[in-house]
Amino acid sequence: MSKEPLQIYGATAQQSFSTAPRGEQDPYQYQVGFGNNPGVLPVGQNMPQKNKYDLYTEGMTGASFVAPRAENLNAWLYRIRPSVAHQGFSKLPENPDLESNFLPLNPKVHVSPTQLAWHPFHLPGDNEEVDFVDGIKTIAGNGDPTLHEGLAVHMYLANSSMGRKAFCNADGDMLILPQQGRLDIQTEFGKLMVRPGELAVIQRGMKFKVKLPDGPSRGYIQEIFGSHYTLPELGPLGGHGLANPRDFESPLASFELDQAHWDIVYKVCGELHSCSQEHTPFDVVAWHGNYVPYKYDMAKFVFVGSISKDHIDPSIFCVLTANERWDVGDGTFRPPYYHRNSSTEFIGMIYGEYGGRSDGFKPGGASYENGFCPHGVSYEKFQSATECELKPERIHKNTLVFMFESSMSFTITDWAMKKSGQLHKHNPAMWDNLKGHFLNHLEEVEETLKRAGLPGLSSLGLSEKLA
Ligand SMILES: [Fe+2]
Repeated sequence: MSKEPLQIYGATAQQSFSTAPRGEQDPYQYQVGFGNNPGVLPVGQNMPQKNKYDLYTEGMTGASFVAPRAENLNAWLYRIRPSVAHQGFSKLPENPDLESNFLPLNPKVHVSPTQLAWHPFHLPGDNEEVDFVDGIKTIAGNGDPTLHEGLAVHMYLANSSMGRKAFCNADGDMLILPQQGRLDIQTEFGKLMVRPGELAVIQRGMKFKVKLPDGPSRGYIQEIFGSHYTLPELGPLGGHGLANPRDFESPLASFELDQAHWDIVYKVCGELHSCSQEHTPFDVVAWHGNYVPYKYDMAKFVFVGSISKDHIDPSIFCVLTANERWDVGDGTFRPPYYHRNSSTEFIGMIYGEYGGRSDGFKPGGASYENGFCPHGVSYEKFQSATECELKPERIHKNTLVFMFESSMSFTITDWAMKKSGQLHKHNPAMWDNLKGHFLNHLEEVEETLKRAGLPGLSSLGLSEKLA
């Protein structure tokens, strides 16, 4: 028996503040803030001898017990049955497209110094039903969850809602970016409706299921094994800017009474295991804590950029980049400079168009650049950027592109290299026109060297060029 879920506030109703439902596209209410402490059920303690309505207390931590206060994460759940009420685990068949070990010792992953890119990944066909969990395809990553170090980049390519099935990832936090179709995510903490342009974070160990209200759906997932997402420091920016804490939304407690058969799929060290239970896992009547799932609308991001000269590193768009910005720098080369950074870059697009690339970069596709792999704009783009008039202009209008950036190199999976069918290698010919124009100035250089009393170019064996 499944009843319309009830939404209730903690008994003391100590809400920070909540948002009103936004109509059909997003019918849920949220409480706002990053890592705040919303409504509380028991007063003055977490585990009274007996809870109101005979609920069970279940605690959950997201950090070691003795982690510094600022990093200490935990939640208290007051639920109809505790999570331990299940019927034991059994190992599920391997999903060959799901990868967790990115160490080069693993023969199923590949190293690529070459820039790679993928056309939009295909959604499953009408002849198969693929839900969010079964539709996860790993592209790249580094480290391994058993080392508590590294990350994985996945796509989800799904066409059906999860039924009486929930997913619990014990390996890492999942940052989910829908690109096509909303995700109706039911978590133990309540519900999140996440549309393209928003991001959601479901942290390690939290049970959730995903329904697809808009049919076939595609999006990006970044899974991090060793830590949790935090907001970047603001340094000289002061007290606010970039992503403001008040714009992060967490669910209100929401429970069901369903007492039917449920399967809970756990991902542990990259393996899938399942347990079953005769009741819904979504039976949390109230909760409080700061270890909670949340979502964020990237259009709320407050941009910071150079207003005088020179391109600033993309870290100013952390967390996360949003849909348009102004280029106003004077006397400067506005596109990204040619670079070889220690960062490994994985880029995807939610919507819009992205100029300056020759490789058909489209929403639902991706590109990859390993650390220290040199890259930058084509000669045509270079030439126009060095000669154009520098009027203030709005760029990337109605476009949302994101970058997963890591100081660790990624390896690329078999699925991404071979099975997806969407890989196209970057054509290095796009830089063939980047001629050494310096060579047209040799006479001038020779003059300058002479004037400075320095040896001329003939000392470099270039006299024939000067003839
Ligand atoms: Fe780059």
